[in-house]
Amino acid sequence: MSTSPVRTGIVGCGMVAVEYAQTLAAANGIELGVCADLDGARAQSFADRHRITAVPVDHALDPATLDLALILTPPSTHAALARQAIAAGLRAVWIEKPFTTDPEDATALLQLAQRTNMLIGVAPDTMLGTAIQTASEALKQNLVGDVLSATASLFSTGPEGWHPSPEPFYSEHVGPLGDMGPYYLTALDYLLGPLHVRSAICRTRSDRRVGSGPHAGRLFTAQAPTYVTALLDTDTGTPITLITSFDAAGSRAPHLEIHGTDGTLVLPDPNAHDGQVLYLPYGQRTWTPLSPVPSSGPSSRGLGVLDLADALRKAHEPQCSAPRAERIVHLIGAIIRATAPSTTRSRIPAAP
Ligand SMILES: NC(=O)c1ccc[n+]([C@@H]2O[C@H](COP(=O)([O-])OP(=O)(O)OC[C@H]3O[C@@H](n4cnc5c(N)ncnc54)[C@H](O)[C@@H]3O)[C@@H](O)[C@H]2O)c1
Repeated sequence: MSTSPVRTGIVGCGMVAVEYAQTLAAANGIELGVCADLDGARAQSFADRHRITAVPVDHALDPATLDLALILTPPSTHAALARQAIAAGLRAVWIEKPFTTDPEDATALLQLAQRTNMLIGVAPDTMLGTAIQTASEALKQNLVGDVLSATASLFSTGPEGWHPSPEPFYSEHVGPLGDMGPYYLTALDYLLGPLHVRSAICRTRSDRRVGSGPHAGRLFTAQAPTYVTALLDTDTGTPITLITSFDAAGSRAPHLEIHGTDGTLVLPDPNAHDGQVLYLPYGQRTWTPLSPVPSSGPSSRGLGVLDLADALRKAHEPQCSAPRAERIVHLIGAIIRATAPSTTRSRIPAAP
């Protein structure tokens, strides 16, 4: 087992990279040394802020200077950059969600990584956080009995409300299902999976407006469905309803619920690592917060990178594994295929 720090670099110095850099800076055994971005000025300002070195993208995937690269770029670029990292001979790569936008790319990358002994870890890493670990423990303890059904719902205004460059989140095969679906599907796959898609419907509110940053007010067109409802089930036939929408002002629907013969669990937002898991025993009226299972690391994005670095040191599979991420991308693909005949493009004007 190697004890030297894992030499790490970041590709893509946008919004999400900041939280990763903070998590890695506070961690032991990781040496964040370089960053790269297609936008050189952005890479330089990120490097200055985090006291690291800005390099060209090729250098941030070079095994001579790095062990692990984080790919934190828009979804449609993940597959090509991961292929480039494998071709360069890098030992490990962490990829933001969704793993890829095309399911065939996910399968090809998985096979390529297995042939070359490269480790791939894929976001989300929230399943390693206290909330999903607490729910997992409750299911192992049989607290809800036999699972009868589950629901997952994400309703939001969409990233144009807070992201200065929201267009990639509406590109083909992304939308709320590709962007936020991985959090919900990964949690459900981890807790109840594997899952299968039975049917789906969708709708596209295609007129969108950038809500912040230098391009605020600019109109753009969504290429992906902006509302998707899917019906899935497990190997044992447990029905699961998933709703993902970027067409809602807000919602009070629980993010995730699991109903069993002996009770119900309500989970917090799977886009966060912590939060309370509530339990209602069958026939009772008082919800009880479950004691949280302690986390194996910080409650922030990057927890999975620390696990991947550990996997690299100890030569085992990362917990946020590529096979699971490939399954999720195939589920998303199957949901999109199931919705195809029902797709409607709405002429409703963009939100104000
Ligand atoms: N923004 C968030 O809060 C958030 C949260 C969780 C996950 N994510 C995921 O993180 C990824 C990045 O999202 P973001 O919000 O940080 O995006 P962003 O637009 O803020 O930043 C992406 C950066 O990648 C750079 N880039 C694009 N193509 C590149 C390439 N081929 N090579 C090098 N650099 C390239 C861009 O110039 C940009 O600086 C996405 O997969 C997204 O789903 C984002």
